[in-house]
Amino acid sequence: MRHTVTLIPGDGIGLETSAAMQRVVAASGAQIEWEMAQAGAACIERYGSPLPEETIEAVRQTKVAIKGPCTTPVGTGFRSVNVALRKTLDLYVNLRPVMSIPGAGGRYDDVDLVIVRENTEDLYAGIEFEEGSSAARELIRFIDEHGQGTIRPDSGISIKPISVTATRNIVEFAFDYAAKQGRHKVTAAHKANIMKHSDGLFLRVAREVAAEHADIEFDDKIIDAFCMNMVMDPSQFDVIVFPNLYGDIASDLAAGLVGGLGLAPGANIGHEYAVFEAVHGSAPDIAGKDLANPTAQILSAAMMLDHLGEHACAERIRAGVRAVYAEGTHLTGDIRRADRTTEPATCTGFTQELVRTIEQL
Ligand code: NAI
Repeated sequence: MRHTVTLIPGDGIGLETSAAMQRVVAASGAQIEWEMAQAGAACIERYGSPLPEETIEAVRQTKVAIKGPCTTPVGTGFRSVNVALRKTLDLYVNLRPVMSIPGAGGRYDDVDLVIVRENTEDLYAGIEFEEGSSAARELIRFIDEHGQGTIRPDSGISIKPISVTATRNIVEFAFDYAAKQGRHKVTAAHKANIMKHSDGLFLRVAREVAAEHADIEFDDKIIDAFCMNMVMDPSQFDVIVFPNLYGDIASDLAAGLVGGLGLAPGANIGHEYAVFEAVHGSAPDIAGKDLANPTAQILSAAMMLDHLGEHACAERIRAGVRAVYAEGTHLTGDIRRADRTTEPATCTGFTQELVRTIEQL
């Protein structure tokens, strides 16, 4: 079957990894018509925004998109394209499977877990008050007056909202996903001992939802203990559900355990739309040099093909990736293998080998 998919290459290494992904999807036999749309730093001059309205409209039309990373300047400038896209299209789930790939130089060979991250609120809600602004001063006065402690007058403030609605939605998604994928346990990670009204609420609602799914085991972990447990023995985790910020950090931690950001795929899913994207960013340090590892975006495309019902094509891509890593002579420089005897491959070289492998499967 033919599918139309919006492709947003993004910027930085997104241009290279998106082109690699297109070649690999074509080799898998999937019939995809790509509708190109723009986002990221390069759009500002032309459209006055890093996320043009016509890009959002394109995703609304096709309902499925895959995107490369977009640069977000730290501390100042425009807000994150990703955060805006997730909010605008109500992509409330960030789904990030983390799996060991033999030959990818990971610290463990038995990792098989899924990160389910709430995608719309928490400290990523973008509700912020600049230090010295009249709104910040008013808020500080309000907090003083209501006996909630004292905030230094020279503070900038970011608000952390966690709602019953969003928590219920994300935890229900985690349990439904676990049931559909034959997984047996959901863990909720939080800091409810300190943030009683935000993380405490998250944990309370997670427990309520867990009680409605008695067939799946449930436990919870305080986020700092979770991080230590994850580093020492990631095999103890199955599906893990997080508020937004912890989920973002834990995703990179988990990616590091299986060989790095170049390998970590993901998806942003809502009731109507789905946008697939790698966990990594635009990697300005290597952009334009043909050094990027496109595996993460390629595995994101495999997730997209599953979403479109093209399971055989998705599995062909995953089998090809496993074969190329097992063989080991065409891997990009980010992959740390102690037994490496060949020079690192370029993004193009890795992609050529993967295409050749898939075509021979
Ligand atoms: P980053 O993920 O871009 O890079 C971190 C490190 O990992 C760098 O050394 C980079 O070279 C390496 N790396 C990342 N992906 C790689 C790949 N596929 N192959 C080989 N090496 C890879 O994170 P950083 O530097 O914090 O962020 C750069 C920019 O990306 C920022 O503007 C950030 O806001 C943005 N960003 C965008 C995301 C998105 O669009 N989904 C997600 C995360 C960050």
